[in-house]
Amino acid sequence: MLVGYSRAGYRLRRHSWPADDPRRDALAGRTALVTGASSGIGMAAAAGLARLGARVVLVVRDEDRGNQARNRILRQVPRAELVVARCDVADLDDVTRFAAEARAQWPTVDLLVHNAGVLPAKRQESRQGHEITLATHVLGPMLLTERLRPALAASADARVVFVSSGGMYTQSVPAGDVDYRQGRFRGAVAYARTKRLQVAFTTRLAARYARDGIAVHAMHPGWADTPGITNSLPIFRRITKPLLRDATEGADTIVWLAATQPPPPSGRFWHDRRERPAHYLPGRHDNAEHVHRAWLHCSEAARLNTSQNG
Ligand SMILES: NC(=O)c1ccc[n+]([C@@H]2O[C@H](COP(=O)([O-])OP(=O)(O)OC[C@H]3O[C@@H](n4cnc5c(N)ncnc54)[C@H](OP(=O)(O)O)[C@@H]3O)[C@@H](O)[C@H]2O)c1
Repeated sequence: MLVGYSRAGYRLRRHSWPADDPRRDALAGRTALVTGASSGIGMAAAAGLARLGARVVLVVRDEDRGNQARNRILRQVPRAELVVARCDVADLDDVTRFAAEARAQWPTVDLLVHNAGVLPAKRQESRQGHEITLATHVLGPMLLTERLRPALAASADARVVFVSSGGMYTQSVPAGDVDYRQGRFRGAVAYARTKRLQVAFTTRLAARYARDGIAVHAMHPGWADTPGITNSLPIFRRITKPLLRDATEGADTIVWLAATQPPPPSGRFWHDRRERPAHYLPGRHDNAEHVHRAWLHCSEAARLNTSQNG
């Protein structure tokens, strides 16, 4: 399984794909929002979507870095239509502001990629007092999807993609304490738990938005050599560097999920263009009661109306 996450796994699987590649103009006329597009996999996904003809909004927390990413993408895809928009996805007030502005500017949103991610060494909190990986990976994306619901519903083929991680296999949905207030904080555990929550909630979000024709997918990119890996896991990177994919290879399944026809079934978990099980390891299967409690906790924290398929 782990070899599959590497560059070798990607390149071996790639041989079975050519017939599966989206058409060159598959996303012409579509509008795509990619969070965390200033770096790594998000920037590569934005480039991949633009290459297929989408207008891409680079949703970033730092506009200067966003503009630098825009220039780098333009060097690869000179005809790309790229807009830089500022939003801190961990800050629910900023997400609310951004979503209102985005709906006014883009009444139809076809693709929403929740890519922004963090792996902090120490426990940090968002402006609303939530543990930062929960706010970044789960609460902000839930609120952004909900607030963009009318714009997504206006698309004939809306797709939302959560960029999770293979690290989520190491954790199950926590029995309580979703905000990781108790016990010794370990960043890798917080990261994996919240990546697990993304996958566990994908089924629920898919059901919630099905009647609006909005598909929700989760995927994991494998191990890709990005600034995020360099900064958060320097030892891992040093050891595994020859094995790591590049960011474009890590982003491949995001672009494929966004563009392939017929649309992939909603509510599933994907890696390297194939559906994957949500669980591998014994003792890491999700308890339905824990998932339900976590869902109620996060729905309330993310200000979702839980009477709607909640
Ligand atoms: N690389 C891998 O091997 C790997 C493996 C599994 C999963 N992933 C997932 O892939 C995604 C991208 O990771 P990466 O490796 O490309 O890391 P990266 O290079 O650190 O990129 C992360 C991006 O998220 C942005 N971001 C973080 N917090 C944000 C916030 N509150 N609001 C808006 N943007 C925010 C960062 O913005 P700044 O530029 O401002 O910091 C950056 O653009 C993450 O979700 C990560 O968990 C990566």
